[in-house]
Amino acid sequence: MKLKKAVFPAAGFGTRFLPATKAIPKEMLPLVDKPLIQYAVEEAHHSGLKEIIIVTGMGKTAIEDHFDTSFELEILLKERGKHETLKMIENISDLVHFAYTRQKKPLGLGHAIHITKNLINNEPFAVFLGDDVIDAKVPVMRQMSRVFEKLHSTVLAVQKVPKTQTHLYGIIKGRKVAPRIYKVEDLVEKPKANAPSNLAIIGRYALTPGIFEAIEETKPGKGGEIQLTDALRILLKKEDIYAYEFEGTRYDAGEKLGFLKANVAFGLKHREIKDEFRAFLKNLRI
Ligand code: G1P
Repeated sequence: MKLKKAVFPAAGFGTRFLPATKAIPKEMLPLVDKPLIQYAVEEAHHSGLKEIIIVTGMGKTAIEDHFDTSFELEILLKERGKHETLKMIENISDLVHFAYTRQKKPLGLGHAIHITKNLINNEPFAVFLGDDVIDAKVPVMRQMSRVFEKLHSTVLAVQKVPKTQTHLYGIIKGRKVAPRIYKVEDLVEKPKANAPSNLAIIGRYALTPGIFEAIEETKPGKGGEIQLTDALRILLKKEDIYAYEFEGTRYDAGEKLGFLKANVAFGLKHREIKDEFRAFLKNLRI
């Protein structure tokens, strides 16, 4: 049981970033100099996943163009001798294979994943939510696939969050069975009160194909959508599910403050600008 395929749900409207996302997909907003979605795509690649399936929707063609070859741009860069820039744009689209499918109605994360059923073809697979950008020494999905290969069961990425934030996440109830690993006993999507723990699901999942049948049995939940967390609850009746507390720093780039924090953190690491940017921040009188 090895993970080879990765699903990227990217059909949402990005309402939290309006008006910036009126004509540009949220996934294409730049974190320093790369679109948000590219961070997770590179994580997938560095985790050994070579087949990327992006679930898009209306107005998302910029994502496809981004991961396609831009022949004219490549010729221009070659002519101008900009070899380093050329390498940067060539790299990712050559290293992995992309497939696109569309979610025609915004019926939820579970629904978006179910659309890939035929492309996944009864294999285990990974899901990446691109809003969660994770800076880690070992790519988080690589950490997770190690756990997945040992346990042969669904693995969810989790992180401890303050009690005041549990209503923003899928929350698990789990029993610790090894360092960083919990056996999931229950899970609930965005509990308003009485969260079963402070272990929040973060947007990385290693799933068995059993999830598809579970999604088919899932009724609309929070916000009238087919929630992945609810489908996992159904799957739990048939299969073991584990949660893995990953090593790394996660930014919620799906909301303004988290997005800004991620820009600052990645800016401070960027080889071209890090020194000047650090000096700039130090000089701010705030
Ligand atoms: C989704 C999931 C939620 C999870 C979160 C992680 O929610 O439904 O269970 O905790 O991603 O980022 P969203 O933030 O897309 O509303």
